[in-house]
Amino acid sequence: MKLSILLALIPSIQSFPIFDNQIQLFGGEPDRVIKVGPKEYKLVNEEQKLTLKRNNIKFIDVTNSINVKQAFEEGLLENVPTGFNIQSLGSKFLSDIAPPKNYTYPETISYKSDVKDFISKIDTDKMYENLSKFTSFYTRYYKSETGYESAQWLEGKLEEIIAPVKDVVNLSRVNHEGWDQFSIIASIPGKVDSKVIVGAHQDSVNLLFPSLMRSPGADDDGSGTVTILEAFRILMDSYVKGDFKPHHTLEFHFYSAEEGGLLGSFDVYQKYYQQKETVVGLLQQDMTGYTGNMKEGEIHMGLITDYTSSGLNDFIRVIVDNYCSIPYHETSCGYACSDHASAIEHGFPASFVIESEFAYSSKFIHSVYDTIDRIDWDHVKEHTKLTLGFAYELSMAKVDTDI
Ligand code: BES
Ligand code: ZN
Repeated sequence: MKLSILLALIPSIQSFPIFDNQIQLFGGEPDRVIKVGPKEYKLVNEEQKLTLKRNNIKFIDVTNSINVKQAFEEGLLENVPTGFNIQSLGSKFLSDIAPPKNYTYPETISYKSDVKDFISKIDTDKMYENLSKFTSFYTRYYKSETGYESAQWLEGKLEEIIAPVKDVVNLSRVNHEGWDQFSIIASIPGKVDSKVIVGAHQDSVNLLFPSLMRSPGADDDGSGTVTILEAFRILMDSYVKGDFKPHHTLEFHFYSAEEGGLLGSFDVYQKYYQQKETVVGLLQQDMTGYTGNMKEGEIHMGLITDYTSSGLNDFIRVIVDNYCSIPYHETSCGYACSDHASAIEHGFPASFVIESEFAYSSKFIHSVYDTIDRIDWDHVKEHTKLTLGFAYELSMAKVDTDI
């Protein structure tokens, strides 16, 4: 049998249902601690992480979190068998971080004409051009060379946008321990330091062979990346002219290594937690462009209602109702399905709006088929309207965070 065929079979062997004491076939010693539920942890290796993803089991890789690092150092994890549920080790792993605050968000919009004006500037040709370049990297897998190069390209785009005000608007890399692809934060200073954030993940993955196979990641999450990039371009244009003066500090986050278990965003929010930052709210945009499973006339966005902040979700309902041409449907996606979960884990309010109800979302993700020709630009435009409305209305609103 040809080696390539043999290799291709390995992932399917690995995709058999997982038992807690599954024999460790590939991937070496278990050295990653993952969180698979609000209070449920497992000790696994890299290959087992992939197997879990292939089986649609979501997790946060918390190996670099303060508590887990400490447990490793104290040798507490050394004798834990592979796949063993380490929940019983209890409080060592449970953080004492309080759940997100329920701030009082605006119940109506206040800046209709400004936001409508921004919306008129959305340029889907430009977005197509950006996504075309972004998906041309062989893969944006966080551990790959091209995943580093795609981050550099994205950083270059952001540098261009902030060039006229580069002394005021802060563009920073967040470097991560263990892989080269960095997260990027563009920060527009407000009158106060509390942050309104929009986020997307820049990495992609091919779940068959992450390190070998092509992964265009057009929808997941190239679409979200170009969505928030376009909203940033439009708002910056206004900022440069002196027309946009946000009350809260407005940030655009491009996370690395979401596909590795929210690794990049976990680092970002762990840092914000340690620095005692205040986050008014995060809107995550992960998958904004696929409508292939929806009938015409039934096209909608998906508002994720599980493991998100209900108050912030209410605010998002107001934004969609006022600024978008299609409705939202409520849907759920399970524990830790995207970077908003990293914010929530650290006690920061967060929401997630995806292209559709979970059942209608793209089934091409994590494969070679997640390509730009499958992207519906009218749909991406709706998400861009949402992002503009959210970013402007919430950063201008004087949300009281002293509660
Ligand atoms: N964009 C997906 C999440 C997603 C897919 C949400 C389909 C809704 C519909 C994301 O990039 C992803 O793959 N997440 C992982 C979890 C992660 C923590 C390993 C997943 O869902 O398996
Ligand atoms: Zn994604």
